[in-house]
Amino acid sequence: MSLETIPLATGGVPGLGHVPRLLRDPLAVLRSLHTEGPVVLLKVGTMPMVYVTSPETVNEVMVKKARSFRKGRLFDRVSELVGEGLANSNGSKHLRNRRLMQPMFYKERLAGYADVMSGRARSLADSWHHGQELDANGVMVTYAIETLAATLFAADIGRPAVQSVREDLPVIMRNMLRRALAPTWMDAWPIWKEFNRSATRMRSVIDDVITRTRAADPEGRPDLLSLLLAARDGDGVGFTDEEVRDELTTMLFAGSETVASTLAWALHHLALNPDVERAVLDEIKTVVGDRPVAFADVMRLPTVTRVLDETIRLHGVVTLMRRSTEPVTIGGHELPAGTEVLISLYGLHRHPGLYPDPERFDPDRWLPERVAARPREHALPFGAGNRRCIGDRFAWMEAVITLATLLPRWKLVPRPGARPPTEATASMAHPDRVEMVVHQRDAH
Ligand code: HEM
Repeated sequence: MSLETIPLATGGVPGLGHVPRLLRDPLAVLRSLHTEGPVVLLKVGTMPMVYVTSPETVNEVMVKKARSFRKGRLFDRVSELVGEGLANSNGSKHLRNRRLMQPMFYKERLAGYADVMSGRARSLADSWHHGQELDANGVMVTYAIETLAATLFAADIGRPAVQSVREDLPVIMRNMLRRALAPTWMDAWPIWKEFNRSATRMRSVIDDVITRTRAADPEGRPDLLSLLLAARDGDGVGFTDEEVRDELTTMLFAGSETVASTLAWALHHLALNPDVERAVLDEIKTVVGDRPVAFADVMRLPTVTRVLDETIRLHGVVTLMRRSTEPVTIGGHELPAGTEVLISLYGLHRHPGLYPDPERFDPDRWLPERVAARPREHALPFGAGNRRCIGDRFAWMEAVITLATLLPRWKLVPRPGARPPTEATASMAHPDRVEMVVHQRDAH
């Protein structure tokens, strides 16, 4: 079997393949290749990589034929940092750990995290003043890391860890994609000094929190770390300290930049769309009024939800990867075992055949009647199948609570003269800077 039947993407260069095109503007490549077919062949140097561009072929890889795939090349390198946490473990280990962790995201647990999130959002709102200039993305990165850490660790034990994670995680995230793509013989180069220092420090801080939480008897405590330490499978076997560290680190990676980026882009789009902002404010006023935002409110704010749906459609997860473990047919093409497959939710969600005028921010695309008219596979903000995001409801709740807390108190407007944010790529199409000025709302 071979990949010969798959059309080769245009713009390749002998020897380098599509690397120059991908380096020049990866997002443009991911947005445009659907025009060349539902399955397209890219060459990364000489390595073939199959890019699936249609909802049908994405669904085949992620759901229908998920058993023929495991996580791909990117994860081999990332696993140096996050070990075999949920996002990069495979097979029976993934299944066991997913089952052990699922209860941490049940409704009763989420209600508890909602209180933490609401308190943290109020503290953020309290910390701003009229006329303050800020980079909304930078603010949201710190805020999302601290909020996640506040739900992961017990407050008393976790405080020093939060400080370290806040400093080190952004350094690691900034460098991770480069590190994952660089060959291993470059690992000893001095360019990685800052990265290595942050990675080592974060690992030791997390190990320390684990030791101290275990010593403090985690049974019955509500934070995610205590739940991880108390979890037992059907044979009564729990996680080792190393497994707990991998899961914690994975959640910090998976759950901070994603939420921060969503919030920063949502604030940006709301500032540019006063009608939408007005509808959001009216809804928050009616549903929440002046009290703190609570867990029960999250389901009762459909306008806020549509803003977030549309924000994630436009700026969602850029690339997912899989590698076939056996011969498998995708989009009618035979892929041999060991084929690297690329999926871009960002590309899928900007497919003009699925979303007319795809670059336009239009939360009304998510009105119930319009959602009902589209096949479900057209929108996969949190992935699909057995690898679907385990933190989806957690993330959603955090984003809704944060917007519903900040917006009634503060109006954010773009800083005069600031460059509009551009999309940088890591895991999400996160903005580089979102420069804004904070204005007190008249009503308060
Ligand atoms: C807006 C925010 C978020 C978005 C858009 C998002 C998106 C995704 C996507 C698309 C996947 C699937 C990856 C794949 O198929 O390869 C995923 C997996 C995952 N996410 Fe999220 N995520 C978000 C927030 C979070 C949060 C807050 C957490 C943790 C608290 C989290 C934890 C995870 C984990 C552990 C996985 C791996 C699941 C598995 O393979 O079984 N995510 N996420």
